[in-house]
Amino acid sequence: MEVSRFRVNRYLGYSVFYLCETLSEISVVAGPEAFDLANNIAKNIGAELVLAGVRVFSDGESSIRLGKVKKNCIIVQSTNPPTDTHLMQLLMMAKKCIDDGVQDISAVIPYLGYTRQDRAFQEGEVVSIELVAELFQNIGLKHILTVDIHSQLAMSYFTSLHNISSVRLLAEYASKMKLRKPIAISPDAGGANRAKEFAQHLNIDFISLSKARNRVTGEVTTDADIDIDISRRDAILIDDIISSGGSIIKASEVLRSLEVGDIYVMCAHALLIGNAAQKIKSAGVNEIISTNSVPSNYSKIDLSPEIALALKSRY
Ligand code: R5P
Repeated sequence: MEVSRFRVNRYLGYSVFYLCETLSEISVVAGPEAFDLANNIAKNIGAELVLAGVRVFSDGESSIRLGKVKKNCIIVQSTNPPTDTHLMQLLMMAKKCIDDGVQDISAVIPYLGYTRQDRAFQEGEVVSIELVAELFQNIGLKHILTVDIHSQLAMSYFTSLHNISSVRLLAEYASKMKLRKPIAISPDAGGANRAKEFAQHLNIDFISLSKARNRVTGEVTTDADIDIDISRRDAILIDDIISSGGSIIKASEVLRSLEVGDIYVMCAHALLIGNAAQKIKSAGVNEIISTNSVPSNYSKIDLSPEIALALKSRY
């Protein structure tokens, strides 16, 4: 191998000298549904793009075909719903790279599924994200880059997982919106730091609502107890994931009862299961804006600049 440069590997969070070839000797593999993001990443870092061909059979099984890849590979694939299908496809792509003798495999998994199952909430529950981490480790997928991971605890199961934040990009987008005395709002205490960081970028106020979820029924209740007057101010609800939309709908109902102005929703990962988007809009939300970690009509913010930056510090 002709080594062109040495680099301190900051991406892994610890300092090791990494022997790396030029970025043009890397293949970025676009997983099914990840074409746009993978293409942008490849362009950004100056690497070649390789497409993964997929066939999903009527029984739900996937078949994956990869073109010829270089000695270093970056696989791009979110594990959004259907989560198990996308997870299996990712493992299949990794296996093909390993079988083809790829020396260094990274996975960019912008939305990493199962991170909300980071502990046994009820007796007998499997800690699913721990299993996902073991699967990646065992197949040889050691370097993982994700975006806005749901919890630090989920992160702790991985040996080398690098998490980047989309907050700066979300704030940059919001700064171009025409808003009246905007306020950033977290739908729950767990997301308070995210809303705070977002608000700091924009130099606006932030508050956090308080949410409780029934672990058996999944039902969400949100408290309207806020000690400042937010009437007629435009509200930006910030969350990491929107799945069923339940959290955002409850938060919007509270905000409407407090007579806020327009309500906008911004998130990293818009899963929007079933008719969640429609229900959110019916709850009084003007617009849903998300990153392109999961492609949809709402993924208006391209993550590739942040991802490319993180990758460049590794290669
Ligand atoms: C919860 O802690 C998360 O940050 C999100 O608020 C939650 O996962 C959203 O799920 P849903 O849209 O189903 O309420």
